[in-house]
Amino acid sequence: MKYGHFDDQQREYVISQPDTPLPWMNYLGCESYFGLISNTAGGYSFYRDAKLRRLSRYRYNNAPFDVGGRYLYLRDNESEKFWSPSWQPTRTKLDKYECRHGMGYTIIGSTANKIEAQTTYFVPLGETLEIWKVKITNHRKTPAKLSLFSSLEFCLWDAQDDNTNFQRNFSTGQVEIVDGVIYHKTEYRERRNHFAYFACSEKLAGYDTQRDTFLGAYRSWDNPAAVARGKSFNSVACGWAPHGSHHVKVNLKPGQTKEIIFVLGYHENAVDKKFSPPNSQTINKTTVKPVIAKYLDGKNVAAAFQKLKENWDNLLGTYQVTSPDIHANRMVNIWNAYQCMATFNMSRSASFYESGIGRGLGFRDSNQDLLGFVHMVPSRARERILDLSATQLKSGGAFHQYQPLTKRGNHELGSNFNDDPHWLILGVGAYIKETGDWKILDEPVQFENEAGSEQPLYEHLRRSFNYTLERIGPHGLPLIGRADWNDCLNLNCFSDTPGQSFQTTTNKEGKVAESVFIAGLFVLASKELAAIAVKRGLPDEAKYYLAEAAKMEKVIYQHGWDGEWFIRAYNDFGQPIGSKVCKEGKIFIESQGMCIMAGVGLDDGKAKLTLESVNKRLATKHGIVLNNPAFTKYYIEMGEISSYPPGYKENAGIFCHNNPWIIIAETMVGNGNRAFDYYTRINPSARENIGDLHRCEPYVYAQMIAGKDAPTHGEAKNSWLTGTAAWNYFTITQWILGIRTGFDGLVVDPVIPAKWKGFTVTRKFRGNTYLIEVKNPNGQQRGVKKLVVDGKEITGNILPACAPQSEPIRVVAVLEG
Ligand code: BGC
Ligand code: NOJ
Repeated sequence: MKYGHFDDQQREYVISQPDTPLPWMNYLGCESYFGLISNTAGGYSFYRDAKLRRLSRYRYNNAPFDVGGRYLYLRDNESEKFWSPSWQPTRTKLDKYECRHGMGYTIIGSTANKIEAQTTYFVPLGETLEIWKVKITNHRKTPAKLSLFSSLEFCLWDAQDDNTNFQRNFSTGQVEIVDGVIYHKTEYRERRNHFAYFACSEKLAGYDTQRDTFLGAYRSWDNPAAVARGKSFNSVACGWAPHGSHHVKVNLKPGQTKEIIFVLGYHENAVDKKFSPPNSQTINKTTVKPVIAKYLDGKNVAAAFQKLKENWDNLLGTYQVTSPDIHANRMVNIWNAYQCMATFNMSRSASFYESGIGRGLGFRDSNQDLLGFVHMVPSRARERILDLSATQLKSGGAFHQYQPLTKRGNHELGSNFNDDPHWLILGVGAYIKETGDWKILDEPVQFENEAGSEQPLYEHLRRSFNYTLERIGPHGLPLIGRADWNDCLNLNCFSDTPGQSFQTTTNKEGKVAESVFIAGLFVLASKELAAIAVKRGLPDEAKYYLAEAAKMEKVIYQHGWDGEWFIRAYNDFGQPIGSKVCKEGKIFIESQGMCIMAGVGLDDGKAKLTLESVNKRLATKHGIVLNNPAFTKYYIEMGEISSYPPGYKENAGIFCHNNPWIIIAETMVGNGNRAFDYYTRINPSARENIGDLHRCEPYVYAQMIAGKDAPTHGEAKNSWLTGTAAWNYFTITQWILGIRTGFDGLVVDPVIPAKWKGFTVTRKFRGNTYLIEVKNPNGQQRGVKKLVVDGKEITGNILPACAPQSEPIRVVAVLEG
């Protein structure tokens, strides 16, 4: 069953029924002001940091699921009927409903009682505010006398505190209402210099700022007292729950349309200019007023919306494909790239599944996110790399996460996730390949954010490399630490106490448990670092990196190879994990993907053999599971992985993030048919028709699809914020379509289904536009035998980077067996 359809022309997903299996979300904002918005207008907003600067409330894990949002109520003042044009929260039957999730905006339109209302929600570029533009049309033959109420519950900034510290919070809330603008200023009187405002373009018939007055005692969002009686109470919040509601009277002639604009924003004042007059407690509104005035003007709103659209034309224009597969096309051209922007911005912090409280920006996550983002806004990727590396420890290790507002490492979680440092090498490599900006390596960057500790970024990469060499276990493999990529493989944890965090509890010394996955990653990262060292004029250093990589490769063959696949790890007793000798978890996906991506086993058939094992034991029609057989009970020596019931999450779920590693491995052995088949199995667009099973949004990847051991095999969960976005984007664009960034230029190396006759790609790269046509007349899966650039045949399959040309560069690549 489908709940909507793709409108590829508009780059929108159109949801035609409000009661989707789960709230289907979108993001507003892509710079510093962000919002989550569901297809029924649920969600919340924040400035930079969902934990520390939250503007509005959302109630996670509620019933119904999606409570709290940017709500509107329309009331027919004659019949006294009222409803929500976004369906929630009144859930009144609508005669027509349509939600269009687009690039940075959401439009929810509906008709009820012959009144049509369409609301466009978006964040103008460069601003710290959001617009709700409401268009109301009277389709009756008679005049309509309506009331429109807005409703937004303010969060008292720190979302964690807001959810827990009620003895204080019920007494701190403060607002100001001036010229129809509701200002939320809790804690402004003391140490905060920021406030929120909620404005409306119309003359108000009334307002409410105290939630419980607006709702009435024992009433809820579906039946607010103010809306039911058709009149606000003009309540002024003092403590309890500050709220923003405007009441506007809208009288429409038959056929008449009216546009009403609401602006919700965040504003900071200079600390010494907080109040006006200076010795008062009144917000100084001098700098915010012009901003509000600007966006209450429909012309400016229309122009800002246009700009947002153009920005996305531009961002997405960097890589566009026309292939025989509609699902690949729309993911590459629109949604997968768009999701990469969200993961870049949010890391894993704020989604329908991530409360915005627990997790800042992951070191590993953010580095990987760059793979799918760097081509869109390289300057922001650069900034991210420098921020991340500044949290790196002197040892080369890394804080596992950092807080976006402060850009400081998260001490609670700490470090010792022993794969983390290597992702920095891969992130930096991806950045340089895209931009050719070698200068980034000379940027002085602090360690642990300590003034005076600056070293060139390149030195950070060296320390990342050394980190592993300084932590080698009994078999010569890297010690795993708290965990490697699999945050749930906690081999030094041995936790027997409920509530202990698997990520931070360490009951073992950590001198035994080793990771074959990190060994593979080390090989991959070392080769990358060697290539970088060569370019820096350090050939001896490069040789050293390669020699260490080769040594590690040997160790992998010796202690990491199980006969038909790669072992996953060794536990604290020195026993193998992910081996045929194990009763459960005989084979894991991660070490297979990572070792082959690092080139291990490519020359001697081990890679192919491994991929057959993956196909036989891990692949399902819904994607490739993480391990098999699933763990059926809790193993204290394994940690969180065995805490999940079989088939979910890291315990044999289809962890979509690492499926692309196998897909890349398949392309490396030239198996285009299988690579694309695997790619399609988890492609959300290709799963649109099984919406009742898949349940998550069909336009973005989910972290997980329940594996074959789960009762709900095929059900997706944890959509939006996942490394799946970047890895799939990287895989389809660079490995399957094979237009791959290299240090010296663009590599053309497609590995595609034999039945494809060809495809075209437009790629903007280092100041040039490449129009690439790939022809596959003889049904090959790989092998560029002829490359013609602007009419001239060149040898090899690299398009060397060159100075920007005035015309696009035309490339024809022909595959031949
Ligand atoms: C999840 C992992 C996640 C980890 C760290 C676990 O519960 O299953 O996917 O990486 O928590 O937050
Ligand atoms: C989600 C985390 O964000 C990511 O870093 C990790 O690799 C996966 N879970 C697997 O555990």
